[in-house]
Amino acid sequence: MKTKLEKIKQDFLQSIKEVKDQKSLSDLEDKYFSRKGELSLILRQLKDLDMKTRQEVGKFANSLKNELKEVLEKTRKDLSREKTSDVVDPTLPGEKISTGALHPITIVRKEIEDFFATLGFMSIDGPELESDYYNFTALNVLAHHPARDMQDTFYIDSKDEDKQADLLMRTQTSNTQVRAMLKHGAPLRAIVPGRCFRCESTDARHEHTFYQLEGILIDENINLAHLKAVLEETGKFLYGPNTKLRTRPKYFPFVEPGLNGEFSCFLCQGKGCRVCKNSGWLEVLGCGLIHPNVLRAGGIDPEKYSGFAFGFGLDRLVMLKYDINDIRNFHSGDLRFLKQF
Ligand code: DAH
Repeated sequence: MKTKLEKIKQDFLQSIKEVKDQKSLSDLEDKYFSRKGELSLILRQLKDLDMKTRQEVGKFANSLKNELKEVLEKTRKDLSREKTSDVVDPTLPGEKISTGALHPITIVRKEIEDFFATLGFMSIDGPELESDYYNFTALNVLAHHPARDMQDTFYIDSKDEDKQADLLMRTQTSNTQVRAMLKHGAPLRAIVPGRCFRCESTDARHEHTFYQLEGILIDENINLAHLKAVLEETGKFLYGPNTKLRTRPKYFPFVEPGLNGEFSCFLCQGKGCRVCKNSGWLEVLGCGLIHPNVLRAGGIDPEKYSGFAFGFGLDRLVMLKYDINDIRNFHSGDLRFLKQF
């Protein structure tokens, strides 16, 4: 009986090789496994054997049956896969390909870079790990100057290797003003978008890591009217053609005079609303005419050249543009937030 079973197995394996479609596969299945199929007939004869042989052959027959069924199922799968790959159904919805996206701060930074490029400003970057000199001293903020307390600084334990200066995480993109002057000289037009750090406790409007966008323009006979013109154009670019600029005096050590700049609120056109906290104005920048001491630190003669500088809170611009009410979203890494842009 075992030899008969072996013969069945050989025949089966031979015939299944020739199977080309589902129809002949189920014919083959019937031939071997149906109630009157070859295997079933043999298994039915088991009862005529004596107890010992019945057990032995029974076991053999069962495992053979399972083995053949497995081959059958595998062939069935192979056939159906071949079939589906042949057929293209153009009515099926496409497979969604998930791609990454730009961070909202990057989107707005790029837009502003493009805008300033049209005014002839190059976009440059400065170091985030900075010496105390470029972040403060060169900007007319000497050691122990009270203006240092305006910003809570993260100081670093080690010193700058060549100059033995104190190191810190830059508190403002203004750190790149003097670096840019030393590298490019005058005349100069540059913006510096970048990451800054302050030892602040965080809430919906404050983060220890945030973005600013600095701008400087140096040339002969530059005055406040030039500054005003550039900022007004920037306001129109950001918030539409009816945007107005308002400036009020504010002290910043590296500019004289120093000003605080506000744009009329794009949502209520100055009438007062939730976004501008009913003031009609959005406070977004600091600016002024570059202090002669800063020009000197940058190797530029203040008798010949003058210039203006401004610094935007870049996160704030992005928050206003997309109506984001918590600055902490930016570094949360939360995909539910990031996927919206
Ligand atoms: N760096 C200043 C701050 O972080 C902002 C600023 C004010 C930048 C006046 C300037 C400026 O370039 O002229 O508060």
